[in-house]
Amino acid sequence: MRYNLHMSDVKKSGVALIEKQSLEEIKKADNLKALEEIKIKYLGRKRGMITAQLRSLKSLSLSRRRLLGPIVNKLRERIEKALKSRTEEIKKKNNTGADIDVTAPGRRVIRGRLHPLTLIDREVRAIFRRLNFSIVEGTEVESEYYNFDALNIPAGHPARDMWDTFWLWRHKTESKMNALLRTHTSPVQVRFMERNRPPFQIIVPGRVFRFEATDTTHEMNFHQVEGLMVGKDISLANFKYIIEQFLNQLFKRKIETRLRPSYFPFTEPSVEVDIKWRGRWLEVMGAGMVNPAVFKAAGYNARAWQGFAFGVGLERLAMIKYRVPDIRLFHSGDVRFVKQF
Ligand code: DAH
Repeated sequence: MRYNLHMSDVKKSGVALIEKQSLEEIKKADNLKALEEIKIKYLGRKRGMITAQLRSLKSLSLSRRRLLGPIVNKLRERIEKALKSRTEEIKKKNNTGADIDVTAPGRRVIRGRLHPLTLIDREVRAIFRRLNFSIVEGTEVESEYYNFDALNIPAGHPARDMWDTFWLWRHKTESKMNALLRTHTSPVQVRFMERNRPPFQIIVPGRVFRFEATDTTHEMNFHQVEGLMVGKDISLANFKYIIEQFLNQLFKRKIETRLRPSYFPFTEPSVEVDIKWRGRWLEVMGAGMVNPAVFKAAGYNARAWQGFAFGVGLERLAMIKYRVPDIRLFHSGDVRFVKQF
């Protein structure tokens, strides 16, 4: 009972007709779009003729199905193959180059640009490298301990209000177990000192976070560069020299600076650095002499070492140098902005 069907049954099913018709159409097709239409007509998932044939097999008796099934499947394969080779033929024909106008003017190549923050970050690193500073990086997720306590900012200290914080995990009384997004790069000071002995000089570039409303000069996500130089007999005069070297090289002119008294828990004394820019004093960074409490947190003999530290906003420097009016432009994703640098 297996193959007792006559070939006329196959013919009647229309398969042979479809075969003849489809292969002829494929041969005649002279462009890719026409081929695509043929493909849909025969092999389309919804209304393709072969697809319909395959579907109708289900309603046939087992013996007819056994006979017709492989035939229809073979035909589908044959059509697929024919479509493929005809596609190749047409593509080859299209690529002879005969239709290329060698006299047409060239198209301008659109080149990518580096983001202004990338530019200034590279420049800052290069300047400090020339000044013999090493580059160190920390993590963006930090513990409450390194971000605050170790920097002489214990829980309940009013200075904590200077840093609006994104807390990630704050359930334990043990501050090393509480996680936050670092509000500044200063925690890396202590992390570095725990593992290294003076003398040394480092910068720490990195991303920082503040739980803050944004405006033209505030972002909840921005970048800082921390500086730390520790040794014997380091003084604020050393700081003034280094920072002027840095600013002169960054802005490519002689920069007039002014150190103004300020307050940070992790420095004593603390200063703000102002620069004279287009006839006005602009505040550019916080700094000071490392507070002995910070040395102690890092396990140093606070009597044996002195150091200066500073923290500067990368966006702030870029805004001054490139005359960017709104800090939010940096993360706007607007190509018109990036293209200008
Ligand atoms: N961490 C401070 C801030 O984010 C900036 C700063 C000030 C860093 C003084 C320092 C420093 O290292 O000495 O506002």
